[in-house]
Amino acid sequence: MEIDHQYPTLNDIRRRAKRRLPRFVWEYLDSGTGEETAKARTGAALDAVTLTPRALKSAATPDLSVTLMGRRHPLPFGFAPVGMSGLVWPGTESMLARTAAREGIPFCLSTVAAASPEDLAPDIGDQGWFQLYAPGQPDIRRDMLARARDAGFHTLILTADVPVPSRRERLTRAGITNPMRMTPGVIWQAAQCPAWALATARSGIPTLRTLAKYADTSTTHSGTGHVGYQLRTAPDRAYLETLRREWAGKLVVKGVLHPGDAADMAELCDAIWVSNHGGRQFDAGPAPIDALVTIRDAVGPDIPLICDGAVRGGTDILRLLSRGADFVMLGRAPHWGAAAFGQRGVDHVVHVLRAGMIADMGQLGLTRLPDIGRPAFPTDSNER
Ligand SMILES: Cc1cc2nc3c(=O)[nH]c(=O)nc-3n(C[C@H](O)[C@H](O)[C@H](O)COP(=O)(O)O)c2cc1C
Repeated sequence: MEIDHQYPTLNDIRRRAKRRLPRFVWEYLDSGTGEETAKARTGAALDAVTLTPRALKSAATPDLSVTLMGRRHPLPFGFAPVGMSGLVWPGTESMLARTAAREGIPFCLSTVAAASPEDLAPDIGDQGWFQLYAPGQPDIRRDMLARARDAGFHTLILTADVPVPSRRERLTRAGITNPMRMTPGVIWQAAQCPAWALATARSGIPTLRTLAKYADTSTTHSGTGHVGYQLRTAPDRAYLETLRREWAGKLVVKGVLHPGDAADMAELCDAIWVSNHGGRQFDAGPAPIDALVTIRDAVGPDIPLICDGAVRGGTDILRLLSRGADFVMLGRAPHWGAAAFGQRGVDHVVHVLRAGMIADMGQLGLTRLPDIGRPAFPTDSNER
């Protein structure tokens, strides 16, 4: 496969994506917040984890499958929710859904995606998760949940780390306004990337397809934010309890870093998603991989922990699993695939991750993932 020769790592794919995207789109996808220390720390903390290879151990083909919330997945990772994926490249939400359905891995659709649950129903198969930015109005919340359920999305993710918008200063510098306006600067940036501009012109400016229906009924907030911010509220424990009553499927809280919060919510959800939102919300927060360890201690061994942040290869997935994660999600990386090569780029991202895990498990003498937490010897850093 030629793509594999030229783009064998996610960073290779990332570089091509960057070349093909207008500056404001790249800045939207890539940015963190503040001085981006949280974003940098997230990757650095992963890099710091060593896993000691083993000698004279099994070289059998490893089994990469895991069970999460009662479902078997052939791979221990999936696609995290990303707002306005369709801005990165038209049709990205559908590409992610198709790859996820084919691979048997979850795809989490964002409330503020450029595709609605109904749009993706034909593509998503049995792999749909729906991410909720908590609507303030109960009738809108109930309608949105019913739409997600009716379109086949079985797992609900409540995002808890956006109680207020963050500043994302790089977006301001790139000339992005909220709501988005086609200023001369933005048009100039788009003109530098003809493939993106043509594809976007053909498919039309992306919109918030799930929220469009509620745009006129929004009365909860005033201001200049897009409809996503106008509709949402900061969820609290009572809100989570309400969701537990209203949603019959699996329920996950995303954006948890504090062990006390994790312990408090554990009885109300089916999994906890340890995340710092890709470093986009709070620059002083801990790296998710460090938070994993304290959260695992706080909640005990039974509740599944999902984790994300700066995963750039199969090695990083193994690092997270070794620190107590049961499942790993990726936000930006599959978008690099879509921007670089369209659908086959998303497939290629999965291939790179799978191939990396297989190679590393051979080094670790591992044939199945649940064994990764076992210390190879007392000082091994892969001890949980
Ligand atoms: C451009 C962009 C948009 C995002 N939009 C959402 C969103 O709508 N809802 C949400 O819960 N998380 C959102 N996230 C956070 C991701 O779900 C995920 O936590 C993060 O991207 C993981 O880090 P990674 O990109 O390094 O893999 C977004 C992240 C990015 C990069």
